[in-house]
Amino acid sequence: MLSRRLIVAGVVAAVLLPSLSASASHTPPNPAGETLRALAQRHGLYVGTAVNMDALQDPAESRYRELASTEFNTVTAENVMKWEALQKEKNGPYDFTEADKLIDFARKNRQKVRGHVLVWHNQVPEWLGKGVKDGSISKTELRAILERHVKTVVSHFRGKIWQWDVVNEAVTDPWDSPPSGITYRPTPAAGAGDNQVFWADHLGPGYIADAFRWARSADPQALLFYNDYNLEAFGDEGPMDKVQFVYNMTKNLRAQGVPIDGVGSQGHLSTQYGNYSAFQIRDALDKFAGLGVATAYTEVDVRSQRTPAVEAGDTKEINPRLQGSAFNYSALLQGCLMSRKCLSFTVWGFTDRYQWTNDWEFGGEGRTGLAAIYDTNYNPKHAYQSMRADLATAGAPYVQPRIPQKPKR
Ligand code: XIL
Repeated sequence: MLSRRLIVAGVVAAVLLPSLSASASHTPPNPAGETLRALAQRHGLYVGTAVNMDALQDPAESRYRELASTEFNTVTAENVMKWEALQKEKNGPYDFTEADKLIDFARKNRQKVRGHVLVWHNQVPEWLGKGVKDGSISKTELRAILERHVKTVVSHFRGKIWQWDVVNEAVTDPWDSPPSGITYRPTPAAGAGDNQVFWADHLGPGYIADAFRWARSADPQALLFYNDYNLEAFGDEGPMDKVQFVYNMTKNLRAQGVPIDGVGSQGHLSTQYGNYSAFQIRDALDKFAGLGVATAYTEVDVRSQRTPAVEAGDTKEINPRLQGSAFNYSALLQGCLMSRKCLSFTVWGFTDRYQWTNDWEFGGEGRTGLAAIYDTNYNPKHAYQSMRADLATAGAPYVQPRIPQKPKR
C-alpha cells in the first residue's frame, strides 16, 4: 500500500517536475569515475600533487601526464623551484626554464600552483654552503644574498603563484639535541643542509619575518605560508611541543604585522607509527585557523617499511601496509575537510613509480616506500579510493565550503 502510494507520488512528481525527477530518484550520482579534483570542487577544496619534471617530460610517461593533469587542480614543483635548481653560480643568472614549464602545464590544465620553496636549509646551491662554511660569505652578505634570492624568485613568478612556501622547516624537532622545539639554537654553527637552524645560526631568528616581508613586497597577491613536518596534532602544548612552538611563532609573527597568511602541514607519515584521528587533525588545523591564517596539507605521503617479505611480494605483509596508508590519507583528508580554512590537500608525488620515500633514509626505518596513492603501474591503491570516498561522502553540516584567505597587508 505504502509503496504503491510512493510510486504514484513519484510518477506525479516526475510528470509535474521533470527537472527534479533525478533528485527524487533513490540512486544518487555515482562518484566512481569522477576525478579527485571534480569531487573536491564541491567543497571548494583544491587537491594537488608534487610534480617530477623528468617524469612529466618523459615521452614514455603519457599516463603520468594524464593523471597529473586530470586528477589534480593544484600542482607543486617537487624540486625545480628550489634554490639549487635555480642558481648554479654565485651572482650567476637564474634559470627558470624547468619551473616555467610547470607553470605552463598548470595554466593549460587550469591548475593553481603552490610555490615551493624560498627559504630552506636543504637543496641550497653548493657555492652558498661552501661560502658560509669557509667564511668567504659574511653574515651581512648572506642576508643580502637571501633577500635578493627571495625577491628575484617571487618577482619572476609574480601573479602566477597561489601559495608560496616562504620558509620551510625552520623549527627543530623535539628529539634534536639539545632538545628544543626552538628556531634558534646558537651552537654549534650549522652548515647549509645540516639542519633546521642553519639560517637562524647565521642570520638570527629575525630572518623569518624578513623573508615574509621580502616575499610580500615582490608579490602582493600570493598567499605566504610557513611550512613544516610533524605538525599533524598538538601534543602537551608545552615547550617541547613542536606544533605549539609553530603556533606561538605564527601568533607572534601575526602580532608584529608580518604578512604570513598560512601554515602548511607537510603530512609525511609512516604506517609504523601511531595513527592520528581525523578529529585530532581537524582540531590542529582549526587552532591555527583561530590565528587568522589559512592552512593546507602540502606534502602528504604515507610510507611503510619495505621488509624482505614486502619486497618478495608477500601479501600478508603488503596488505596491512596499504590499509594503514589509506587510513592515514583518509584521516588527514577528513580532518582538512572538516576545517574550513584548510584550502588544499597536496600529495607528494601521486605514484610509487616516482616517490621520494623509495630512496630516502628515514632514521632507523631502513628501506621504505609504498607511500603514494597509485602504485608503480599507475593503478589506484586503497589510499586513492579512500580519498575519493571521503570527498564523495562529505557534506554539511560537518563539512562545509572553504573560507577563502586574503593576503595580509
Ligand atoms: C624532497 C624531494 O621529493 C626529493 O626528490 C628530493 O631529493 C629531496 O626533497 N620536505 C620538503 C620537500 O619540503 O621539498 C622534500 O622533497 C621532502 C621533505
